Amino acid sequence: MAPIVIKNGRIITAVDDYTADILMEGERVQTIGRDIPVGPDVEVHEAAGLLVVPGGVDVHTHLDWEFGSARSADTFGTGTQAAAFGGTTTLVDFADQKRGQSPLAGLEDWHQRAQSSCVDVGAHVILTDVTDQTLEDMKTLIAREGVSSFKLFMAYPGVLMVDDAGLFRAMRVAGSNHAMVCVHAENGPVIQALIEEALSQGHTSPKSHMLTRPSLMEGEATHRAIRISELAQSPLYIVHLSAREALVSVAEARDRGVPVSAETCPHYLFLTDEEYDRPGFDGAKYVMTPPLRTQAHQQELWRGLRTGNLQVISTDHCPFCFQEQPLGMKYSKRLGYGDFSKIPNGAPGVETRLPLVFDGGFRQMGLSLNRIVELTSTAPAKLFGLFPKKGTIAVGSDADIVLFDPGETWTITASEQHSRVDYTLFEGRSVTGRVKKVFLRGQLIVDGTEWRGREGMGHFVFRGESGKV
Ligand code: URP
Ligand code: ZN
Ligand code: ZN
Repeated sequence: MAPIVIKNGRIITAVDDYTADILMEGERVQTIGRDIPVGPDVEVHEAAGLLVVPGGVDVHTHLDWEFGSARSADTFGTGTQAAAFGGTTTLVDFADQKRGQSPLAGLEDWHQRAQSSCVDVGAHVILTDVTDQTLEDMKTLIAREGVSSFKLFMAYPGVLMVDDAGLFRAMRVAGSNHAMVCVHAENGPVIQALIEEALSQGHTSPKSHMLTRPSLMEGEATHRAIRISELAQSPLYIVHLSAREALVSVAEARDRGVPVSAETCPHYLFLTDEEYDRPGFDGAKYVMTPPLRTQAHQQELWRGLRTGNLQVISTDHCPFCFQEQPLGMKYSKRLGYGDFSKIPNGAPGVETRLPLVFDGGFRQMGLSLNRIVELTSTAPAKLFGLFPKKGTIAVGSDADIVLFDPGETWTITASEQHSRVDYTLFEGRSVTGRVKKVFLRGQLIVDGTEWRGREGMGHFVFRGESGKV
């Protein structure tokens, strides 16, 4: 592979902002400097006028994932290609333990599915059955398999939920083995009661998904998860935080020095619960968990990003098609036509994170460029044991680099996206700022609208310690 120089770009990391050239060789950044000499064997990419940022790190995706009776619509091939077009070069996706089986088997199954990845991928493992053997297997996953984070659900009773004792036991093992537990924090049993009540009263439309998942129950579970993690002495990561009540608990705990971190997602920052008032079944596109909240919650999330009480923006990319065809019912929101509780929970988003956050966060909400990079690349890399290989532009780091045009205005539309899903949450939204080129370990994989990567070129990333702050 010929050495590559990116010339004259404005390099933005979580802490730097300067203009220089970058020489990439042998998958890594070799040199950063002014006027790097360029021999005839060197491929040059001019970046004057462009931002040069580290490849995005998205630590919350569900590719090719069996979820109840549904399956997410992207393969690792299509989902990671979509990620690349969105400026993301590393995903940490979810493998899962099936009840009665070892989490090691869940990881093995995930590795089979992940073979078609086009960008680098790591795995968290979802634990659904916390037995003594599971706790032993956690140690093996951490030490031998490069899996230093686990996800446990306080929601979805009968499908994924574990009880508080299971949560506590898993946290204790994570905490004493340099790993971290990620928690989906909603009070599953109370929500289940609300769902049953709504259905018995004949409320079947997608809006009931939102009405039966109140923010109070996200706040309650977040508080409980934090307290359990304190007892277990484990770092904790709250996934897809959407509600003011949950953020208050995170902020309060952080003020006391508790090692809790949290992510939110673009849909909570840019959309509100008004989407559920769409006619017919259209609101099903927005059925993700937690649901979209009011503008008042949204404002609190922006405040959390400013104050540092939220550390990461990830996508929770969990795509299900709106239409039944061509992929089939299993991959479609139609599974819940006539019964909101059967609508597969999840939405696409892996391709739109950086442009949305740049446009909304930097241009409109006044976050700095450094903060945008921190939220979408550096902080997740640090929290999940990937830094400094991933998450920055530095000599010796992987040459995962994005050239981004801060001035191009364009319109998001599903027809130009690379996911297999047939809609985007942001159809017709005009944004300024666009990914122009993407390098994965020194190889050009996205060149404007042209795909230069290939399935299978993504590496598995063996992660170090998670939860370091
Ligand atoms: O609705 C969502 N978020 N689906 C994916 C599963 C999860 O809870 O993260
Ligand atoms: Zn979740
Ligand atoms: Zn998720």
